[in-house]
Amino acid sequence: MRTRYLIFLLSVVPGATLAASGVTFPASKIDLKPQSVTLPGSGARYEGPGAAVLNTNCLLCHSPAFVDSQPPLPADVWKSEVTKMRDSFGAPIGDAAIPDIVRALVERHGLPAGNAPGGEGEAGASG
Ligand code: HEC
Repeated sequence: MRTRYLIFLLSVVPGATLAASGVTFPASKIDLKPQSVTLPGSGARYEGPGAAVLNTNCLLCHSPAFVDSQPPLPADVWKSEVTKMRDSFGAPIGDAAIPDIVRALVERHGLPAGNAPGGEGEAGASG
């Protein structure tokens, strides 16, 4: 019983004392100032062929160095990679963007030996 009374006193008295002492707090004015920070990583963006579509769809999770270090792949493999990014990892990639992304990736990486480019935008589709 004594302990409960003590706890009650400790929790109420400081607030009551402050209020009784007439202490007022000025209306706080938050003054936000711009800060400059250097984040780890290069902050690099994709440049060169297909840069715009890769900056929009891949930079969110991958540095250009990561994607550019991938080997040459046939278009259909890139397509399933991009689809996997969306379906497995939640990348916000719209269906309409996929052909442009695949074209950009094939253009940047080239095709593996033995994968002759097909018609426009269908590079490597045959095989
Ligand atoms: C929402 C985040 C996200 C976005 C956006 C994203 N990826 Fe990924 N990506 C991942 C994750 C997670 C992995 C798996 C990493 C691991 O296994 O360590 C990955 C792995 C990869 C790999 C390695 C092979 C593999 O399948 O694991 C490649 C290549 C790749 N991504 C390419 C791309 C390309 C190209 C784009 C843009 C079209 C893209 N990613 C967009 C999350 C993303």
